[in-house]
Amino acid sequence: MLYIGVDLGTSSVKLLLMDETGKVQKVASREYPLFFPHPGWSEQKPEDWFAQTMDGLKELLADCDKSKVAGISFGGQMHGLVILDKDDNVIRPAILWNDGRTAKESDYLNEVIGKDKLSQYTANISFAGFTAPKILWVEKNEPENFKKIVKIMLPKDYLAYKLSGSFCTDYSDASGMLLMDVQHKCWSKEMMEICHVREDQLPKLYESFDKVGTLKADIAAELGLSDQVVIAAGAGDNAAAAVGTGTVGDGKCNISLGTSGTVFISSKDFKVDSRNALHAFAHADGNYHLMGCMLSAASCNKWWMEEILQTKEFASEQEGIDHLGENHVYYLPYLMGERSPHNDPLARATFIGMTMDTTRKDMTQAVLEGVVFALRDSIEVAKAQGIQIERTKLCGGGAKSPLWRTMIANILGIKVDLLETEEGPGYGGAMLAAVACGEFASVEEAADKLIKVTKTIEPDPELTAKYEARYQQFKQIYPACKALFQNLQ
Ligand code: XUL
Repeated sequence: MLYIGVDLGTSSVKLLLMDETGKVQKVASREYPLFFPHPGWSEQKPEDWFAQTMDGLKELLADCDKSKVAGISFGGQMHGLVILDKDDNVIRPAILWNDGRTAKESDYLNEVIGKDKLSQYTANISFAGFTAPKILWVEKNEPENFKKIVKIMLPKDYLAYKLSGSFCTDYSDASGMLLMDVQHKCWSKEMMEICHVREDQLPKLYESFDKVGTLKADIAAELGLSDQVVIAAGAGDNAAAAVGTGTVGDGKCNISLGTSGTVFISSKDFKVDSRNALHAFAHADGNYHLMGCMLSAASCNKWWMEEILQTKEFASEQEGIDHLGENHVYYLPYLMGERSPHNDPLARATFIGMTMDTTRKDMTQAVLEGVVFALRDSIEVAKAQGIQIERTKLCGGGAKSPLWRTMIANILGIKVDLLETEEGPGYGGAMLAAVACGEFASVEEAADKLIKVTKTIEPDPELTAKYEARYQQFKQIYPACKALFQNLQ
């Protein structure tokens, strides 16, 4: 049988066709625009996501035996607010995960309602970018739009709704709305009251590997598929990527270097870190996870290469960077503010330490290193909770860079396992569809059978020691700039 994984990302939708042995038969992708209507705002049109997904599906399915397609599922960019009116029209563009406009609403939740209460109701505190403060922002700034809201959903749920008619979400993605009681996997009555929403406006909650419906007849006809093709709930992109890299069960780690950068730690038990610096979310395997999320990761390198150096030659810019651990330039990667662990929408990117002999390569190296130092900030929070991380998997566009992989192994001081299939969320989505169709008994069984490590990068003790000293310096830069960032606004 064949299974489709849809990775609804921020720059594009990536679609993947997997057979029952786990072999990727074909991939396709389509881009859509990202709008920054004001500094720090970030929006996309849900209609673009759906149109491009349908277009990509047609290419993906062009030369396969369509009667073999059994299921479709998703990994979707998290936290985005999608609101529909009584006629199912999108009320306004989706406000995305990396949108910082809700600083005030987020402060209100954390300071007036209080972090303790939020943590008790949802297992998390508020971050600008989470869904609940966005609902408060729409209520205050666009009351006409707020009144029209009949359905509230997350980005990938819009695709599931359009494809199947099922108004649904899954526990992993819903965890990032700050409306769900993560431990008990139900909507929080208190949070619904605080955000002035009713349960009938929220989607029905499912496990990621649950069937939520089948393809609508008109969509099935347009794609040339059976209307019995199963739609599975899917997961937030990080949980889907974790499935796709075999980061399931207890105590495993996956690092994603996409537009965002995340450190994802799977856990059989529900856990919350004492300062709520890491997100405590449900996982797509039926368990839980802790996650640190930085808002600009591979996007820092893309910005540096394309906007500043005006080049698309990413690999050749990295060639010849050979004095690892010895750079005197540091870079703070906070182009869109920062989520984990600083929770500071006003933080900004910074270069520091240049001298007259600083070269273009030093600056490129500093960008790549700065991203990994910032990932290490989240790893340090996990370590302080007694969590030992000895090795990690990798996924996301940035993970294809051999230089970045070496930095990850040595700045974090852990082993990096490289995989046969590096498709992350799309592969995880296809695996969730396969579980929903009964191809595997559980997500863990699917991961055991399908995920293969091909090579491990070991940290080099000498380089790790050099980077340890540099990380200790990096750590001092954000606290020294914090007050300045507030005044720069
Ligand atoms: C996770 C997060 C990002 C997005 C990126 O909390 O906000 O990783 O999911 O798509």
